[in-house]
Amino acid sequence: MLSLNNVSVYFKDHAGLLDVSIGVNKGDFVYIVGPTGAGKTTLLRTIYMDLMPDDGFVQFGEYNSLMIKRRRIPYLRRQIGVVFQDFKILEDRTAFDNIVFALGAIGVSSQTAKGKAARALKNVGLMSKKDRYPFELSHGEIQRVCIARAIANDPLIILADEPTGNLDPKTAHGIVSVLRKLNERGIAVITATHNYRIIRDFPGRIIYLKNGRQIEKM
Ligand SMILES: Nc1ncnc2c1ncn2[C@@H]1O[C@H](COP(=O)(O)OP(=O)(O)OP(=O)(O)O)[C@@H](O)[C@H]1O
Ligand SMILES: [Mg+2]
Repeated sequence: MLSLNNVSVYFKDHAGLLDVSIGVNKGDFVYIVGPTGAGKTTLLRTIYMDLMPDDGFVQFGEYNSLMIKRRRIPYLRRQIGVVFQDFKILEDRTAFDNIVFALGAIGVSSQTAKGKAARALKNVGLMSKKDRYPFELSHGEIQRVCIARAIANDPLIILADEPTGNLDPKTAHGIVSVLRKLNERGIAVITATHNYRIIRDFPGRIIYLKNGRQIEKM
């Protein structure tokens, strides 16, 4: 379903990723692990083609980073749910409206978006708080809204960038168990994390990164 093939990404004075190759199939549960600055976010960004490889290529279904036209990238993104490291939540909209807005941005009609938003919030157990604004929600609840937003359009894959950052162990466990339940329905999940406790509680394939390179073991 997804492969990175000898992918390198260079920033001005250094490499963000160097010769990284991974394959992900339907239903896989994969962790990207590595110290801060290792390239985890960079790797995830190449998957949704927010960054294009300078060497190598990404293949996601029919989409290839070497061939894709810029105007086709939104179609690729309809199949990928992203939980961003910095949330990217709109403070002036409710939980429900954040999801409806995100669906609108990828071309889903307003009526359909409302149905999808409600279903996604139910899936993460937050329907009772759908009309709250972000400032009325806890950190863990906001993280669940972000997961709801990522799954609302029935993606084939979820990319979760440090979804348990700054959460207490119990809340972190709850967040990853939501990801695991989605995974059990066949959605592939790639989680970037430094949280070894969740890796122990929810085992999966581990890809280690250090200074942009894939390494065997930390
Ligand atoms: N847009 C950019 N321009 C220049 N350098 C960048 C850019 N984005 C990331 N980098 C650099 O690339 C390297 C990898 O960054 P990345 O954000 O992928 O790390 P990370 O593993 O996600 O770290 P963290 O655990 O702190 O989130 C870092 O050295 C970072 O400073
Ligand atoms: Mg990061």
